[in-house]
Parts: sequence; C-alpha cells; structure tokens
Amino acid sequence: MPPEFVHLLVMKSLKIAYFIPGLKQIFKFLFCYNKLDLEIQIAGVHFKNPVGLAAGFDKDAKYIDQFAMLGFGYVEIGTITPKAQPGNDKPRIFRLKKDSALINRMGFNNNGADEAVENLKKVKSKITIGGNIGKNKITPNENAHLDYLYSFEKLYDFVDYFVVNVSSPNTPGLRELQEKSALEKIFKTLFDKRNDFLKNGKLSKPVFLKIAPDLSVSQLDEIAELVINMKIDGLVVSNTTVERNNLKTDTHFVKRIGNGGLSGKPLKQKSDEILKYLVFKLGNKVPIIGVGGIHSEIDAQDKFKIGAKAVQLYTGFIYEGPALIKRILMKIS
Ligand SMILES: Cc1cc2nc3c(=O)[nH]c(=O)nc-3n(C[C@H](O)[C@H](O)[C@H](O)COP(=O)(O)O)c2cc1C
Repeated sequence: MPPEFVHLLVMKSLKIAYFIPGLKQIFKFLFCYNKLDLEIQIAGVHFKNPVGLAAGFDKDAKYIDQFAMLGFGYVEIGTITPKAQPGNDKPRIFRLKKDSALINRMGFNNNGADEAVENLKKVKSKITIGGNIGKNKITPNENAHLDYLYSFEKLYDFVDYFVVNVSSPNTPGLRELQEKSALEKIFKTLFDKRNDFLKNGKLSKPVFLKIAPDLSVSQLDEIAELVINMKIDGLVVSNTTVERNNLKTDTHFVKRIGNGGLSGKPLKQKSDEILKYLVFKLGNKVPIIGVGGIHSEIDAQDKFKIGAKAVQLYTGFIYEGPALIKRILMKIS
C-alpha cells in the first residue's frame, strides 16, 4: 500500500483506539516508560522524557494525544505555514526497504496555522509541544520572515517551543534561507515579537533552528556564529539529505523516484557528523536536539554521547514501531 495511505490509516486507527474505553490504559502500560531521571529541562522547557516525535508526522497537530499514549516525551508539530497548502503531487513518499530509509517530497502539505491552533485547543495530554514553522510555497524569500511571524504569533500561546525550519529540500529556494542575512532577518522579527509578548506578561518561548545535513563546514561555522550572536535558543540537527550515497537499493530505482529528502538509516552518519561538529563549536552553551537515522537504542545513545540533549524519531519509528521509544528510554535511564 502507498506509504502515505498507510500513515493515514494507522493514525486514524490510533485515534479510534484512543476513544475505546480501556485501550488507552493498555497502550500506556505497553509503551510508556515514566521515570523521574528521564525528565529534563531544555532552554527553560520541561520535557517528560527526551525522546520526541520529529516534525512532519503530525503536521496539523491532530494526533498529539495519541502520540502521548505511545510514550513520546514531546511532539513537534508542523511544518506549519500561514496558509493551508496541498504540497506536491502524489506519490511523494517512497520506501527504500533495503536501506530502512524513506525519500519524501511532501512540500509542506498542511492545513495552515489557524487550523493548527484549533486542533491544539483540543489537546488533553500534558505533553511538551514544539511548533515547527515554515513559509508558504508562493511566498517569495524576501517576505519569508512575515510567514514565520504569522505562525509564531498564532501558535505562541499553544506550544512550548518553536523551530524555524529553513532546511526542507522540498520547498523551492527554502534552503537559501539558511544563509546568514536571511536567518538574521527571520530571527530578529521573531525575537522582536517575543519581546513584545514578554512586555505584555506572556512567558518566554525558546526558538530553535532546524538545519540541513548538507551544509558545508563554512556554512556550519557561519550558523554557529549566528546562533551565539543572536542568542538563538537551540538547534535541531538535522533535516533530510538530498544526497543518495552508499545506498543498497538499486540505483535505477532510486533515480526513478527523483527529488526529495532521504531519511532513515543512511542519514545517521552524516547527521551525527554535523551534530558532533556543532557540539564542538558551541560546547554546552546551546542545546541541540539530535534527529536523523535513529533506528535503535544504540543509535539514540550515540546522539546523546555526542552531546544531544534530546532526540527525535521519524523513519525509525515507522520501521521499528512505537516499542523503539521505550527501548531507548530504558537504555538511557
Ligand atoms: C515524510 C516526511 C515528512 C517530513 N516532513 C517534515 C516537515 O514538515 N518539517 C520538518 O522540519 N521536517 C520534516 N521531516 C524531516 C524529519 O523531521 C527528520 O528531520 C528527518 O526525517 C530525519 O529523521 P529520521 O531519519 O528519523 O527520519 C520529514 C520527514 C519525512 C520522512
């Protein structure tokens, strides 16, 4: 069955299960692993445990209660754009089974910031929520900061932290926003708005930056410098890669799939390498969330050993199922 259809089917089934009396408790008993020593604070935000759902899975904040029942310590919703948009034509997710990987070119399909807010109002679980925000496809890059601002304002009261996503390979030109002056403009806009909110008595919400694994060393240096200078609250490392190196899947098959971001096992090494480099550059000053290629408890432990303060799962969660979350938590506690 097409991966996107399976995804929808699984999420709808989980939603039904959630409302069947007693099933929620069984799920919690099977999958949740609560221990005090797993609780952490990152950039002033409390996380019940450091294993989260990566952005892209629950784009519209529809299934947060269901993910909480599977044991995640936090859920990152989005990427949310100001206006709803359909994303790219289907098919747009492809399985590379031999590599335990996916290639996707979803293109920020989502129902927009206003609907996300309505869905967030219905969440019952006390789980930490991140708001991953992006720009609409039709918005030119010079106005991108206004798109980020729109979703930031809308979501401010409903999420615990934000992630500025400028690293998806599936929105034309988006990755150009990883360049210094573009990032400065976006973060200055958001931090000015946050200062206004603080003056009006609202809580401070940290804003993280999610980066691509395909950046050069000089680009990473520039980002590290910017993070320090602008006091960006943290990093999410990393998004999917546009590279197709060292795959076991037939090259012709991979070529036929075409454009998109590669995630899963083949991403692990690359994502770990840039995580290591940024931990080396930033030390303990800036918290980093590690994501990319976690398919086992050892993979997650690698990211923590390198210096990640928390991790996120996407492709590994699809291939290994929800039991992976508990396995990681038992390993690190
Ligand atoms: C189908 C799919 C959709 C995704 N959508 C988003 C997204 O909307 N925003 C985002 O920041 N990352 C998105 N990602 C990237 C993931 O959040 C994650 O950074 C990446 O997949 C690497 O982690 P993994 O190897 O565990 O999958 C998506 C990934 C996949 C596979």
